[in-house]
Amino acid sequence: MTQSERAPLPIVVLLSGSGSNLQAIIDAVPAGLPVDIRAVISNKMDAYGLERARQAGIPTQVLSHRDYADRESYDAALAALIDGYGAQLVVLAGFMRILSDGFVRRYEGRMLNIHPSLLPRHRGLDTHTRALAAGDGEHGATVHFVSPELDAGPIIIQARVPVHPGDTPESLAARVLEQEHRIYPQAIRWYAEGRLELKDGAALLDGKPVTP
Ligand code: GAR
Repeated sequence: MTQSERAPLPIVVLLSGSGSNLQAIIDAVPAGLPVDIRAVISNKMDAYGLERARQAGIPTQVLSHRDYADRESYDAALAALIDGYGAQLVVLAGFMRILSDGFVRRYEGRMLNIHPSLLPRHRGLDTHTRALAAGDGEHGATVHFVSPELDAGPIIIQARVPVHPGDTPESLAARVLEQEHRIYPQAIRWYAEGRLELKDGAALLDGKPVTP
């Protein structure tokens, strides 16, 4: 089957904040990204990403942790929502929640995340501040398959940016974010085109291990 014959891949996007990566994905669709964004789900009702989705005519859902007794029950409700939309790929775009092992395993090989650092450097939060504090000469962003260990899944693509003298966490974040908006739609495109897979713990592009 050629790409033009293939139906767009149903995806859902999970976010907690501004949603600029969601916007990059939305904007890439008319330019040929073969996905159908079935829904945008947020754990924060005031996430601006929800407004971006509404403006693009995409259904939105808010799932607050306050309504659930523990992480497992929250994640079960989240999975039910995702599966209800028929999503074949889960796209984490600034979704600031730790995911349970069960949830991660359920979507193994079908869930991507973008992280604002050159993994394995600077897992976790405040990556730009930490890159500056470490005196890093370069910084960047990473798209990876999600695995149970936080920010440690197989890498799909990275973008590097220089760190300039006088950079602040904000100026560095802006430089990195610009690259995020390029590499996330790229990785999603590879997946939607059936070129990208997770196999035996490694990311394969066109059947070959990815070398970021
Ligand atoms: C992005 O920089 C993304 O890499 C980061 O949150 C930001 C979301 O921005 N994700 C993480 O830190 C995940 N650990 P956006 O809402 O404008 O897309």
